Amino acid sequence: MAFHEKKLPANAPIAEKALNWVDARFPLTSTYKAHLSEYYAPKNFNFWYAFGSLALLVLVIQIVTGIFLVMHYKPEATLAFASVEYIMRDVPWGWLVRYMHSTGASAFFIVVYLHMVRGLLYGSYRKPRELVWLFGVGIFLCLMGEAFMGYLLPWGQMSYWGAQVIVNLFGAIPFIGPDLSLWIRGDYVVSDATLNRFFAFHVVAIPLVLIGLVVAHIIALHEVGSNNPDGVEIKDTVDANGVPLDGIPFHPFYSVHDVMAVAVFLIVFSAVVFFGPEMGGYFLEYNNFVPADSLKTPPHIAPVWYFTPYYSILRAVTSDFIIYLQAGVAAFVALLWLKSNLSAMVKLAATVIGLVVIAAMFVFDAKFFGVVMMGVSVIILAGLPWLDHSKVRSIRYRPDWHKYVYILFGITFVILGYLGVQPPSALGGVVSKVCTFIYFGFFLLMPWWSAMGTFKQVPARVTYHPH
Ligand code: HEM
Repeated sequence: MAFHEKKLPANAPIAEKALNWVDARFPLTSTYKAHLSEYYAPKNFNFWYAFGSLALLVLVIQIVTGIFLVMHYKPEATLAFASVEYIMRDVPWGWLVRYMHSTGASAFFIVVYLHMVRGLLYGSYRKPRELVWLFGVGIFLCLMGEAFMGYLLPWGQMSYWGAQVIVNLFGAIPFIGPDLSLWIRGDYVVSDATLNRFFAFHVVAIPLVLIGLVVAHIIALHEVGSNNPDGVEIKDTVDANGVPLDGIPFHPFYSVHDVMAVAVFLIVFSAVVFFGPEMGGYFLEYNNFVPADSLKTPPHIAPVWYFTPYYSILRAVTSDFIIYLQAGVAAFVALLWLKSNLSAMVKLAATVIGLVVIAAMFVFDAKFFGVVMMGVSVIILAGLPWLDHSKVRSIRYRPDWHKYVYILFGITFVILGYLGVQPPSALGGVVSKVCTFIYFGFFLLMPWWSAMGTFKQVPARVTYHPH
């Protein structure tokens, strides 16, 4: 393409000339227009739509505070704990930077969980936003990896033993397990080698991937346009210039909106940072203020709250639970044959896989299936765009009882999370097993339940009440 620079009058303002010079060499104005001033977002966004911007804010907080922490932190087993104490006590404002980073980790998960709930409520993952969702699931996996590896760095008792427990889980994988966990640790126990590699991943590798995925997430979203609480496609109703009639420019309308959300968020965030950064042991576990000791295993090791629902699923899979899992797999295959329109080939393939899984459950340890179920409980989110067969996107126009299904799922998730922080108990064990079934049932039975019931009429245009 030929180089093209707009001719401006000699007396044009210097700023205009500078912008013109840049625009001829870099798509500054066009990018600004495409993603901000001429990105038309549905005019009926509500509170739930603030969490994407808040997630971006927390990402920035984590990166900036992380950079300052790295200036004083020592990734070495004999120095790490003391260097964090040094940051807390001697580095000017070090305590603030550290508490912002540790609180930011929990805030990230709160914001991202709410962001995902919005996706569930309004069917934002459905066609044509499958990739937006899949990039989101990738982001979520990175966040989990980032939080897990970051937690080792202060080298406290929980850092050390938490990493020990989780890395040991890989040892349950048949055949390659023990070698795999040795490879991940770089040693026979969690040690300096482990600390160094986790540091490299936490500080360089995962943030790079995370930022790349966030960029891809937003590019994909802006390609197809935002969904909204009504689940109505605003691009279906456009004016003569192709601008959606129910769309408003993101900037200034939603940038102002989001600044408001940022203010509220920062008030709550500051309250935690200044008045309760440990959050009763949920954000920073008490045992982590004790230096790592490879000779002293803490009596109760629990991950930080955002991992505990999945941890509960892991713990629910005991050897006496395997028989129920086998029955579940068999029932699911039977359901596929009796009540689905899938081709005979697919049903046959599912049957073979089901039989292999059931047989494997007789052979391999329950712990291995616990690890598998824990992994699948997160990965299954990626299947949502294809599991949801509802006629409409938004919960607003679904049969009323669908809401109860979502509420049941939400309660189940919270119970699993609660049980994951508690020491194992007989009752907790039974409840977590039941909750594990409900958790997976929600997703695996979705192709059936999401299509059932009487749907409401979806309006042609979004509903909007000026306020
Ligand atoms: C670092 C984490 C993340 C950041 C910074 C981020 C950022 C954003 C932003 C700025 C938006 C547009 C504003 C909005 O609709 O709220 C958005 C939309 C969206 N995000 Fe995320 N996101 C993150 C994680 C996730 C995750 C983990 C998922 C799901 C697994 C997800 C799924 C979605 C979906 C489906 C939309 C479209 C929503 C709609 O149009 O209704 N995001 N994201």
